[in-house]
Amino acid sequence: MDTTSNLQVSINDINFNNPVLNAAGVRCQSTTELDAILASTAGGAVTKSATLQPRNGNETPRMQSLPFGSINSMGLPNYGFDYYLDYVINQQIAGNQNLILSIAGLSIAENLTMLRQIQASDYQGLVELNLSCPNVAGKSQVGYDFEAVADILAAAFTFFDGHLGLKLPPYFDLNQFDELSAILNQYPLTYVNSINSIGNGLAVDLDTETVVIKPKAGFGGIGGDYVKPTALANIRAFRLRLNPAIKIIGTGGISSGQDVFEHILCGADLVQIGTAFGPEGTPIFERVTDELETIMVAKGYRSLADFRGKLKII
Ligand code: SIN
Repeated sequence: MDTTSNLQVSINDINFNNPVLNAAGVRCQSTTELDAILASTAGGAVTKSATLQPRNGNETPRMQSLPFGSINSMGLPNYGFDYYLDYVINQQIAGNQNLILSIAGLSIAENLTMLRQIQASDYQGLVELNLSCPNVAGKSQVGYDFEAVADILAAAFTFFDGHLGLKLPPYFDLNQFDELSAILNQYPLTYVNSINSIGNGLAVDLDTETVVIKPKAGFGGIGGDYVKPTALANIRAFRLRLNPAIKIIGTGGISSGQDVFEHILCGADLVQIGTAFGPEGTPIFERVTDELETIMVAKGYRSLADFRGKLKII
């Protein structure tokens, strides 16, 4: 029996040795952390979502592990857009294309400014526009305002001709998938990434009878096992509606090869690991890809295309 499978993925001619990346936000703020991801067996690295100016983020405690995942309200701590743009350009010069530059402007104007700067730069890799951070007090998640999504895409594609993806929040109503897909299908998007955390959850400490994180009076994004069924539903719903040219990155509740398999079966081209990457660190990439390969070999699948999007209904 053949004991290996081909895990390679290519998106717009950008090659990934395997489909498993980190999710923007966990262990990817500094160049040291990003170097560690690239030095591991991860398929690639995603930078912490950048704002134009550096930010310290929200007050602490701002992240807490929960029995089946995590809650966070980090508030976009990052070293500023230039820091990450320089990093991905330097990696590109070194021959590494398997990166995603994530940006999360605090306004539509700020996002367009960063996209203009990317367009004017030498960076030719993937760009992820994060429209779904739930953790900046007073700012709504743009991904829930479809008119604003349409406006930003219309404005961006007047000048941007790079490889643009969107990081989306989870949706919960099938009409939302219909409406948003009709908008997204009008543009030459490279991919959508579903899902960001389930925004504005709340966890309680029984002993102290308090919330468990300080920012936003305890409200924060939920990740980990809690969110996998929602992530799978979002991937599946978008795969059934989006133009095939728009690829899908699956994020949410991945901590094993089985989770990766399920995301790909629902339609994901690449996947990203957030919550579980925190405690386990870079060894998680080798573990989950090994587990994925074991499942594929047992099922007789030689490549990811053999089962991608082929979820059966009963
Ligand atoms: C954060 O920094 O608050 C998390 C980023 C995100 O959810 O997009």
